[in-house]
Formats: sequence, structure tokens, C-alpha cells
Amino acid sequence: MRHLIDPTDLSMQELDEIINLALDIIDNREKYADACKGKKLATLFYEPSTRTRLSFTAAMMELGGSVLGFSDAKNSSVSKGETCADTSKVISCFADIIAMRHFEEGAALVAAMNATVPVINAGDGSHSHPTQTLTDLLTIKREIGRFDNITIGFCGDLRFGRTVHSLIKAMSRYKGVKVVLIAPDQLRLPSYMKHEVCEMNNIPYVEVSSMEEVMDQLDVLYMTRVQKERFLDEDEFDRLKDSFILDPAKLKNARPEMRILHPLPRVNEITVEVDADPRAAYFRQVENGKFVRMALILKLLEWAKDDSKTIDLVPKDVIRNEYVCHNKRCISNMENVDSLFRPATDKPGKFRCVYCESKAK
Ligand code: NCD
Repeated sequence: MRHLIDPTDLSMQELDEIINLALDIIDNREKYADACKGKKLATLFYEPSTRTRLSFTAAMMELGGSVLGFSDAKNSSVSKGETCADTSKVISCFADIIAMRHFEEGAALVAAMNATVPVINAGDGSHSHPTQTLTDLLTIKREIGRFDNITIGFCGDLRFGRTVHSLIKAMSRYKGVKVVLIAPDQLRLPSYMKHEVCEMNNIPYVEVSSMEEVMDQLDVLYMTRVQKERFLDEDEFDRLKDSFILDPAKLKNARPEMRILHPLPRVNEITVEVDADPRAAYFRQVENGKFVRMALILKLLEWAKDDSKTIDLVPKDVIRNEYVCHNKRCISNMENVDSLFRPATDKPGKFRCVYCESKAK
């Protein structure tokens, strides 16, 4: 079975296939109107969502399929204590494909290990959000025209922002990419991302404390909101929430062909005056999300019938039940699942959790 849990589950060729299919869908909408006739998508959302859930729903409807699911875990058997593993076994009996969003890091991986239909990770805690990455890539393709030789600035909550983690992973596979990290000290990119993703892939990165100092170098400015729901201390959130606010004055030195992306929702990190700037691509990005999810659903349903498309969910050198994950929000600390660790590629002798990529305790 083939799933999408991490952006790098897709080979570069498969990624191209999905982007090209999305572009074809944009040009030939009616050609795909019955492509998923008789198929069902289950959307299992344990965390709030507007865009992701509704764009999955719209995507399946535009393909002629139907959608079932829940958008509030309180209304599902989870409130009775059902595990993610059991829920995914059950839903596999009702649906042809599952999109799951969960507050526990690694939840989608556990779902994929137990489901008998393809599982799409629609966001697992602050870990990963691969379908937002597909959305971002399609937007970069349509707005900038290339993936190589791009300088991309990530601004805001780089610690908890799962969209940032997934997009950096995806961009690190292209040539000539440079990453600029713009965040307050408390919200910096996790060190495993800097070492295992940027350094191991020879992606140069710099950490700066203001957008103005780098604005004229950027091809893409990826803005994010401070992730209130991930803070354990509300006062700290209040201190950090307005760290970076993009307004027209800050765009003065930006290149005319630069593009501003944001996964949305926006809180107040971009003033509404910026919306009228032709460089503001975030509402166009939303529509790209629907098209790329249409392409992804089609491809995963096609690959589900092809055994040669199955990939290992767990690395071959996995170490089972020997270590405990450091991360309290990891599914391995919340549900009764095997603890799984792999050797860290950046630090010999260290291990990372397969579910959430945190260190062993
Ligand atoms: C993002 C998410 O859920 O991680 N939203 C989305 O899916 N478009 C970003 C966010 O919530 O800040």
C-alpha cells in the first residue's frame, strides 16, 4: 500500500508527476469530473482545520467521488478511548482513501501502519504537513516557474510550524536552494532540521532577526503564524505573537518578482494592505491546494493497485522498543505503540524517533 506521511516519501519523479497532473487538471477540469466516481475519501480531523479539510472535500467532489468523516474528535469514538490504530482499521472498511489530521506527532504514520487503504498525513502536531508542501510547490511552480536556484525566507514560528518543516525538507532536494530563517530566538527551526536536512543536503542557511535585512535577496517569503495551540505557557505566546508583521513598508526593497506565501490562517503577521500587492500569492496558493490534492488522490488510488509502488514506512535499520522518545507530544508517548528509533544521520551514536524525529531520552 502507498501512503503520504512525509514529503520525502515521494520520489522526485513522483513529485513531478503530481505537479504536472495538477497543472493538467487546472487546464482540463471537465476531463477529471468522473475520475473518482464511486470512490470515498474519509477525512479524519482531530484538530481544527478550514482549508485543508475543505480542500480535500472539494477535491474529491470535483473528481466525482464522495466524502465521509469527522471534523471534531469529540464526535467520534476517540472520545470513548479508541486508538488511532483501531480507528484507521475501522475506517479502511468504509473508505478507499483516508486524510488524517491529528495533534499527536506521528499519528498519521501509526494510521498508515494499520490501514488497508492509502493514508494521507494532513498534519501531525508540529511535525509535518506534506499536502501543504505540495500546495506550496505548485504555487512556486506557477508563480516563479522553477524550484532550482531559489532563495526562500521562512518567517515566524519555525519551531512549531509543521508547514515550514515539510517545505524545507522538500526544497532541500533541489539544486541551488538557499534558506533564510527569520524567527525570534524562542521559535527557531529545530536543530535536527538544520543538521539533518540543511547541512546533510548542502543547503546553505542563515538565521537572521529581521526581514528587512534580507528582503532584497528573496525569491519567496514564506510567512507563518505563531502556533498558539502548541505553547505550554500562554505568557510566552503573548510575548512572541507579534514578533514579525509584514506591511507594505517592509516590502520596499523586495524584488518585483518575489512572491509572498502563507499556508493561512493569517492572524496578524501580514497586514491586510499587503493583500493588494501583486506579490501576495497566499490566496492563489489556497486554490492550488485543491488542485494538487485532486492530483494526489488520483495518484495514490492508482498506486494502491501497484505493489511496486509500496515503500517502507519504517526504515530497515529500525531499533524497536529500546528507547523512549523525548517528545511528550509524540504518539509513542500517548498510545500503546512500539517505540521505533533510527540512527541519526548527522550525529553518530545518536538516535531519532521514527514517529516524530525527536531524540531518544
Ligand atoms: C497550517 C497548519 O494547519 O499547519 N494551515 C493549513 O493547513 N493551511 C498552518 C497553520 O495552522 O498555521
